[in-house]
Amino acid sequence: MNLYQPQLMRIEEIIEETGDTRTLKLQFENPSVAEQFDFKAGQFGEYSVFGAGECTFCIASSPTRKGYIEASFKEVGKVTRAMRRLNVGDTMGFRGPYGNHFPLDEMKGNNIVFISGGIGLAPVRCVIWNTLDLRDQFKDVTIIYGARSVADLVYKRELQGWAGRSDVKLYQCVDPGGETPDWKGEVCFVPSLVEKAAPSAKDSYAVVCGPPIVIRLTLPLLEKMGFAPERIYTTLENRMKCGLGKCGRCNVGPYYVCKDGPVFTSAQLKALPPEY
Ligand SMILES: Cc1cc2nc3c(=O)[nH]c(=O)nc-3n(C[C@H](O)[C@H](O)[C@H](O)COP(=O)(O)OP(=O)(O)OC[C@H]3O[C@@H](n4cnc5c(N)ncnc54)[C@H](O)[C@@H]3O)c2cc1C
Ligand code: FES
Repeated sequence: MNLYQPQLMRIEEIIEETGDTRTLKLQFENPSVAEQFDFKAGQFGEYSVFGAGECTFCIASSPTRKGYIEASFKEVGKVTRAMRRLNVGDTMGFRGPYGNHFPLDEMKGNNIVFISGGIGLAPVRCVIWNTLDLRDQFKDVTIIYGARSVADLVYKRELQGWAGRSDVKLYQCVDPGGETPDWKGEVCFVPSLVEKAAPSAKDSYAVVCGPPIVIRLTLPLLEKMGFAPERIYTTLENRMKCGLGKCGRCNVGPYYVCKDGPVFTSAQLKALPPEY
């Protein structure tokens, strides 16, 4: 079998999240592939548009929701531009799932704090839904999310749903200048919102994903708040090609991000070269 051969997937639904970000709901065209397909929260795939190329996105839906996957992507370049031209009913390619995952089994029985910024909510959303679908197996669930402006918040319908749940604490912010007259959340940057929310580090894990600046400022902040570096997880977005640990495109220090990651703890990141 050719490892690089994509499976065909049909676009079932398109959700416009923001002016430049879309979520695609995808279903395998081959029913036996669909039946066997399984993945864990935090894994990613290589998605292809025929004639344009491949690019890497996390699987943004939860493994507890069977029969489809979702990918949320921001248009930044050649492939994502081509992907934006696709419509419901069109076919695209998918290879995966690849990479490691968030250790949800280990997190059971603990509090989880989810922290993300912008489109960084996509990989975190996968773990959030996985956790909420098994809600009685976790203690407190706290979601801290921010974007540059109200228009840049992704998954708006889901944020509304989480805000209405009594078993979820949701904190939201937009950057100064990004608020609208009816905005009810905070106006600040994500790390400041983490300080305001002040989640307890006792019996807690943190899952953090966002722009590099959010990760760089939030990880040390959480440690200052008492979170053990081994209990703070994040996911890296190095550029990838094969996704399989074969081409060397994604390596950082001793790791292939595609195979040893993309999920790393804060403790592991400290052992990487200084640019990380
Ligand atoms: C494990 C993983 C998960 C990812 N998950 C998502 C996701 O869920 N949603 C999403 O929108 N994006 C995600 N990305 C980033 C995504 O892969 C790139 O945005 C995409 O490949 C760009 O393809 P393109 O052909 O449109 O852009 P290109 O034409 O290749 O590049 C356009 C511009 O974007 C920059 N760029 C491209 N890829 C990256 C990258 N990985 N990191 C930083 N800058 C980059 C380029 O340097 C260039 O400036 C993820 C990346 C990884 C490695
Ligand atoms: S993308 Fe090829 S080795 Fe990681």
